[in-house]
Amino acid sequence: MTRTETSSELAADYWNSPETVAGFSALDAQPYLIELLRQTPVEGVALDLGCGGGRNTLALLRRGFTTVALDLHSGMVEATRACTGEFGEQVDVRQGAAHAIDAPDASFALIVCYGVLHNAVDHAQWSAAVSEIARVLRPGGLLALNCFTSRVLDPRLRQDGAEGRYLLPDGVPMTLLPPDRVLRAFADEGLTPEGTVHDYVRQLDVGPRAVLRCTLRGEGR
Ligand SMILES: C[S@@+](CC[C@H](N)C(=O)[O-])C[C@H]1O[C@@H](n2cnc3c(N)ncnc32)[C@H](O)[C@@H]1O
Repeated sequence: MTRTETSSELAADYWNSPETVAGFSALDAQPYLIELLRQTPVEGVALDLGCGGGRNTLALLRRGFTTVALDLHSGMVEATRACTGEFGEQVDVRQGAAHAIDAPDASFALIVCYGVLHNAVDHAQWSAAVSEIARVLRPGGLLALNCFTSRVLDPRLRQDGAEGRYLLPDGVPMTLLPPDRVLRAFADEGLTPEGTVHDYVRQLDVGPRAVLRCTLRGEGR
């Protein structure tokens, strides 16, 4: 088994565990997402990339967006399907990877990608996800991004040699890069920040996490 396969299995065990799925299913959407959606015209299809327990999918649906929700892990897909059933054909919940999105180019007017990018098992997968997001975002579309960065590192993380790759104590990998590298990667794909770029540290029960949160606009409106 390759290192990527082993890492992916460890990550799948974590994300599919009933405790993790229940924990994310119990969360409500963050007020900053609700406010962003309130200000965003409802046109085109939205993508909730890495939908977890479905809180952001629900926020998109309630705002009126026709929404595709994707998650790599079946436990999360099932949880999102369960909580969005009442929305019928307004929602399509599928298993799928951020680094290989099964959708044509320019499919989405709005992509919400909260807490997902840093879960890439290595830098290659991380870069592929950035390119895929840019590919499926329609010209002038909006990306709502929230990801961890390497600006502040939890002392419990172990650097794994390769670029930006860190291991949690249980061996689950994360890809953490400096915030300017994250923004540059998106800029190279034609996505630039709109409004305030938030760069802060959250003390989570698992340890400190540096967060980059911003909205990015695709070129060619
Ligand atoms: C921290 S949770 C965030 C869930 C949701 N976005 C939210 O804000 O509640 C990260 C989610 O990303 C999913 N995930 C991890 N790697 C992924 C990948 N490569 N492609 C798609 N989803 C992924 C996990 O299964 C998990 O549901």
